Order: sequence, then structure tokens, then C-alpha cells
Amino acid sequence: MTLTGLASRRKKADASDRPARLLAWYDRYRRRLPWRALPGEAADPYCVWLSEIMLQQTTVKAVGPYFEKFIARWPDVTAMARASLDDVLRMWAGLGYYSRARNLYACAVAVAHDHGGNFPDSETGLRTLPGIGPYTAAAIAAIAFDRRTMPVDGNIERVVSRLYAVEEPMPQAKPRIQELAATLLGPSRAGDSAQALMDLGATICTPKKPACSLCPLDDGCAARARGDQETFPRKAPKKTGALR
Ligand code: ADE
Repeated sequence: MTLTGLASRRKKADASDRPARLLAWYDRYRRRLPWRALPGEAADPYCVWLSEIMLQQTTVKAVGPYFEKFIARWPDVTAMARASLDDVLRMWAGLGYYSRARNLYACAVAVAHDHGGNFPDSETGLRTLPGIGPYTAAAIAAIAFDRRTMPVDGNIERVVSRLYAVEEPMPQAKPRIQELAATLLGPSRAGDSAQALMDLGATICTPKKPACSLCPLDDGCAARARGDQETFPRKAPKKTGALR
């Protein structure tokens, strides 16, 4: 192999350019989702918040029509705050986990009344609001306000546990995975990095039969190198009952 060939191979396997490779992949293959800003457009915190609450226990596919319906009826957070809880619950019907709808409405009222209609722009500020836990605060902070933080959901856990072949089982591995996931953030575009990992997990790094040949990070993936990528994330063995 020539020196140039060697240099480019080394470059390809270099972990430091993962954030840039991930973003380049996202710019090309990002999913078009109703709540996502188009490339170059600023994200609307209201849309980001509404979608993240709906996506907490529901799939992207099921959320789509509900998100559109909510935005058509209440185009901003103060409009939602002027509605009644019953109206919100009626619109939510079918999405399930109704405490989310109650918190959604309480959060809209809090943002409208206590924050002048503007969502707080930091994770700590967001955490004070009803229905916003650590994951959702990080997701909104990154996607809506470009705060340099990485929200880690199930998809991202899978991608990261494979990339680094994290042997520790879930859920104990969560803090380690959170730390490793943060290494995939570049100097800017935190929200896009997070959404890139979400898309990668949903479309390529799938639980079964991941499409590794299409992955922008495949040459640095520890699990792929060993060929056991489907076995991550590791789960603690099920406790077996005593033999009778
Ligand atoms: N799951 C949770 N949040 C998401 C988002 N912003 N885009 C796609 N999938 C998601």
C-alpha cells in the first residue's frame, strides 16, 4: 500500500472525525419529519417540545398525524395555554399515556404565564417544567437551542453500545453510554448530531439485521469488527427460578 493509501485508511478509522461524518451523513439522508426544521431553518421550540412529549412513549409514525392536528389547532404555546384541559385531552385521545397530555397542558400554561410565552433555553430551566425529564430537557435544549448536550434514547443507546462494544448490561451501562454518546458531539450543531443518531438508529443501526454497509461510522464500529453487533446493547441475563 502507498503512503497516501495508508494515511487515508488511518484517517478513515480515526474516531475524532466521527462527529463530522455523522453530520455529513445527516445532511444527505435525514428523515423529513413534520416537526423538523428544514436545513438552514431555525427550529421552533414549541414544535420541538410538542413532538418530544408525543414521542416519549409513541412511535414516529403514530405521532405524525397528531402533531399536525395539534399545530393546526394551536399554532403556538400561548394558543394552547388559552385552550382548556378537556380540549387538549380530546385532541390527545388515542395517543395513550394521558398523564403526558395533562403535563403538556400544564407546561403550556406555565410557559405562557411564567415565561412570557418563551421556553427556557437551558436544560436546567426546561427541567423545572411539567412533563420535562432529563431526556426531554436535553433533546429540547439540543434541537431547539443548540445547547451542546446529547439526549440518549433507546435508538441512541443501541448505536453507541455497538460502536464501543459496551459489555456492561443495561440499565447499568446508561451512564457510560451517556458519556460515550457525548463524544459524538462536534463543536456545533448539537441538535443535528442528536437527530442524526436517532435517524441512524431508526433506519440503519436497527435492532435486527442492521445495514452496517450503509453506516457512516461502520469502519470504527467495535461490534461490527467482531461481527456480534446484534447482541448489543447487552442485557443482564434473566433470573431463572429455582429448579423444582
Ligand atoms: N424520537 C424522539 N425524538 C425524536 C426526534 N426529534 N426525531 C426523531 N425521532 C425521535
